[in-house]
Amino acid sequence: MSVSSGATTRTYQISALARELAPQIATLPRLSRVVERFLLDAARDTATAEDIGAALDLDPVLRGWVIRQANSGFWNLARPVTSVAEACVVMGLRPVSRLVYAACTRDLLRQPLTCYRYPGEGFWLHGLVAGTAARRLADALGDASPLAPEAALLAGFLHDVGKLLLDRRLPRAGGPRHVTPAEERSVAGHDHGEYSAAVAAAWSLPAAIVEAVASHHDADPPPSARLLAVSDHLLRHWGVGIWTYPRCELAPPAQELAALAAPLGCSLPCLAHWWEGLPPVVDGLAEMLRALGHGTPPALPSGAECAPSPAAPAAPEGARRRRESARTRTRVRRRKRR
Ligand SMILES: [Fe+2]
Ligand SMILES: [Fe+2]
Repeated sequence: MSVSSGATTRTYQISALARELAPQIATLPRLSRVVERFLLDAARDTATAEDIGAALDLDPVLRGWVIRQANSGFWNLARPVTSVAEACVVMGLRPVSRLVYAACTRDLLRQPLTCYRYPGEGFWLHGLVAGTAARRLADALGDASPLAPEAALLAGFLHDVGKLLLDRRLPRAGGPRHVTPAEERSVAGHDHGEYSAAVAAAWSLPAAIVEAVASHHDADPPPSARLLAVSDHLLRHWGVGIWTYPRCELAPPAQELAALAAPLGCSLPCLAHWWEGLPPVVDGLAEMLRALGHGTPPALPSGAECAPSPAAPAAPEGARRRRESARTRTRVRRRKRR
């Protein structure tokens, strides 16, 4: 889980870019100190309510936001909660963890974009899901993972954050659109991965995170960036944050993902197990952002914006049934809590 040896030159270039972009980076909302503590102690699946509570004690504003949102009605709590530890007991650790992820990233990933097209809170949703997906892939790879799960989570949150800076440099004519890394390089000399890495470097995040973020659109990325690229490739295929509504029922591009993940030593069954667990994550985070008063409208829209490629095959019946039963289980759990 160390930085690859061939990364020295890239690291030097990213440090130079971070210095060059320092005035612009200074205008971005900093990640809360909670993020660091949360990643150390509380982002693991084994985290306790005390771990999460202790992490949030570092930032009373953020802690207050989490408690307010917990009482917002979405979780149908039988009684109001007054502390994070209580929220963990009443709501469960995973929903509280998702709230904390949202709280840690909300100021940064909710910055408005003019040139990049992310409907509603799509940019926020894309970052949140990318972090969770990358962490789960790192977990699935175990000791073979090039990134620790907590580093993968943060790298996923931040992988596209450079778009916030590039958005100020791209030509505004044409309005929100799909901007390719090639267009970014032609305008700014760097793609958004390198800009994101400059932000991470300016914030003194670990070198492994900087390297992963910098190269996630490279043709032959190093292992840490490859882990992010696999996650990002699937999310873009499903349109997570990019279309008005994600289409997780679309069959994943198995061969492309397997080719991308092969150098990580990730077999197709391992990969399939990973992607089959993601639709409930996407649903859960998208539903949560909508419930918090952000995100996309509840009615299904019509039009090309949310339409998948006509050639994209639908997921097999078994996958659809599994998703439906997962949704039913979630609904039953909520009813029980009432
Ligand atoms: Fe990207
Ligand atoms: Fe992305």
